[in-house]
Amino acid sequence: MCGIMGYAGQKPAAGIILEGLARQEYRGYDSAGIALRCEETIINAKIVGRVSELTRKVKNMPPECSVSTSGIGHTRWATHGGVTETNAHPHESSDGMIVLVHNGIIENSREIRTRLESEGVKFITETDTEAACQLLAVLYKERGDARSAMSALTAELRGAFALVIMFRDIPDEIWCARKGSPLVAAFDGSASYCASDPTALLEYTHDLFFLEEGEMASLSPSRCEFYGFDGTERRKKTIRLNWDSVMADKGHFDHFMRKEIGEQPDVLRLTIDAHTIVTNVAMDKSLTLPSGLMKQIRRVQFVACGTSYYATLVARDIMESLDGELDIRAEVASEYRYRNVIGGGDTLAIFVSQSGETADTLAAARIAKAKGTRCTAITNVRGSTIDREVEHTLLSMAGPEVGVAATKTFMGQISLLALLVMALLKDRGTLSAGDEARLIGGLRTLPALQQAMLEREDEIKLLAEKYSDSKGFFFIGRRECVPLTLEGALKLKEIAYLPSEAYAAGEMKHGPIAMLDEKLTVVALAPDTDLREKTLSNVEECRARNAPILLLASEGDEGARAHANDIIFIPRTEPELFPFIGVIPLQLFAYHTARTLGRDIDMPRNLAKSVTVE
Ligand code: AGP
Repeated sequence: MCGIMGYAGQKPAAGIILEGLARQEYRGYDSAGIALRCEETIINAKIVGRVSELTRKVKNMPPECSVSTSGIGHTRWATHGGVTETNAHPHESSDGMIVLVHNGIIENSREIRTRLESEGVKFITETDTEAACQLLAVLYKERGDARSAMSALTAELRGAFALVIMFRDIPDEIWCARKGSPLVAAFDGSASYCASDPTALLEYTHDLFFLEEGEMASLSPSRCEFYGFDGTERRKKTIRLNWDSVMADKGHFDHFMRKEIGEQPDVLRLTIDAHTIVTNVAMDKSLTLPSGLMKQIRRVQFVACGTSYYATLVARDIMESLDGELDIRAEVASEYRYRNVIGGGDTLAIFVSQSGETADTLAAARIAKAKGTRCTAITNVRGSTIDREVEHTLLSMAGPEVGVAATKTFMGQISLLALLVMALLKDRGTLSAGDEARLIGGLRTLPALQQAMLEREDEIKLLAEKYSDSKGFFFIGRRECVPLTLEGALKLKEIAYLPSEAYAAGEMKHGPIAMLDEKLTVVALAPDTDLREKTLSNVEECRARNAPILLLASEGDEGARAHANDIIFIPRTEPELFPFIGVIPLQLFAYHTARTLGRDIDMPRNLAKSVTVE
């Protein structure tokens, strides 16, 4: 939930570290800090606030800092200890020998702290991280050797950590270690780097070393060396990440989120082209899981968190609409991990995680693996933990997503999931040629329809402004619309901080309807399917309680106007594919509501993009 960056090279380090932190600021943004090696000393600067404020503070650091060629930095999302300058990283040991940044949670920090305090070590922060910092100083003093001290430290720490460290008396070298929190390193010929997120390094190289669980490294201007936590040397190969660093730039947009919403037709097009044969509708073999796998599978479980979970609901619904005999479930990872969910060799679990680092999803995958369940992942990040831990990974093709609220990665997930579902059912022998042609044909028309939807932004903006003073929102819909009601409500909560709930439309009368009045807006999704009338009846029940109705209906459904205060028309598609277009006005509605209310759209309060703690 924090972003960390380290640099040891020949160029001025401050700018490189600040740029790396800015690229990772979505991971945490309540405070930030940097430590630069300046001749014999290491100088720290910390602030409460954003990286831009840290950049201002760095300008006032002593002149020698501007020529420093190694350092470490951190942008924080607080877990232990309030948001204060003292609690901001980097932390320094009381003997001044160690300067350290950390992402994760040290679970035994209390024990370590109590023991060291009884030995006379003075702690100055409330953080769990300081325990690691002070302990490393003690171990380094005892052993006199960085590698050995790092081994002893990693053996003693419990919990999750990515650590980046400078030893005061080892110039031009930084150390890092990883257990449970992501860490990636790189060497470009004259400098070494490390960061939490690969996007921070793509400007320098696309060939990256992803540290494995239980690995540490020493990084210098001439090399990267890797070790196991026991200190034994490891040879590592780079993984090439073909993301363009400009993909992670805002371009002419005011917010990453808006730019990313607009990229969705390209994400969909790319996914379809990569995974289908252009001349006919047959599935590309590379998409399928090991041949014949589905012959042994009786159960399919989709497992994920947040928006990724809603993507799995879309997949579940498509799959069960095509095959009524398979046991298909979608599960929230944070519950899956603690329930006794059935598993084994006849179960296929598909874990979906944009970041590939979500703690709950990783834990769920480990549990499924231990039960002998066949595990597959869909992630947007090659080399992420989930990619490395499961049997088979499919990469979504969204490119780097910077806005904390997921938008284009949802599109990357649902498009890949739709194709995967069809490939699995084809393997199983239950996908009819008619359905295959219908859905692939439908998917191919979607990018143009999405583009048409995006072009109605001004209309949606006016509606967002009109309804932005609502005391809350209910999103309602049936079947294929239910995942979108959840996603639409989540987007509004995340970036506009407005109370917003999602209900299957038929559930309203079982309780939630009691809350309706003229200040609570109902956003109803009623495309022209066999369920249109049923949903519109539920809409009428809401109207009768004076709730303003904002209706999403199919293009040309003029009759729907009579049921709503305002209406957004959605281009028509196959019913199962409605979420691919219907999500766009909901994302734009949340975006413009948040803009109207002056919210911090790309970095909403209290959130972090990848949730690497439980
Ligand atoms: C969505 O806008 C959120 N950022 C959040 O719900 C997210 O989808 C969730 O934390 C899961 O993340 P993951 O896909 O990286 O595992």
